[in-house]
Amino acid sequence: VQRYSAVVLGAGGVGKSALVMRYGKNVFLEQYDPTIEEEYDLTVEYEGKRSFLHLVDTAGTEQFTGINESYIQRGVGFVLVFSLTQEATLKEVDHIRQQIHRIKGGDENVPMVVVGTKLDLMGEREVSSEKMQELAMKWGVPFYETSAKKGWHVNEAFDHLLASMRKR
Ligand code: GTP
Ligand code: MG
Repeated sequence: VQRYSAVVLGAGGVGKSALVMRYGKNVFLEQYDPTIEEEYDLTVEYEGKRSFLHLVDTAGTEQFTGINESYIQRGVGFVLVFSLTQEATLKEVDHIRQQIHRIKGGDENVPMVVVGTKLDLMGEREVSSEKMQELAMKWGVPFYETSAKKGWHVNEAFDHLLASMRKR
């Protein structure tokens, strides 16, 4: 059986935990309860096969950050999360991405996906699809527009990550 391991990183309140709960348990986390750290061992279906994914959901709020370095050292694959409704959270993704490259010794092929959340909040959107495509090209990283609330494109984003981990 394939075993995968990934870490979910991003600014506070962007929807990391909601994304993980949608993917792992197919429920929507309505309440905002800032994470300190949660680890999950998920059995996932990937390409018709049962696989195991160890997923670490990290803290985005400032009082708990600063420990990103150790998560990056331990992690194999990364889900970098920002909110489509908050452009500033995309800067945090860029910062984390650069940290990953530095800590992983400039390895260009670290398995990584960038996930924009809250796609259902159309009227509050601040980050355009064009902007995402531009950054996807520039960074050489796949981007997904998702909604944990509606369950849109969540599985696709994780499937992509599993696929890039598998090639390693
Ligand atoms: P920290 O643990 O503090 O880093 O935050 P987080 O990134 O884990 O955010 P969390 O998943 O707790 O979500 C924050 C708030 O956004 C919650 O109230 C969620 O219900 C809401 N939220 C998350 N994803 C979505 C989404 O796709 N759509 C909508 N409408 N709300 C969302
Ligand atoms: Mg959380």
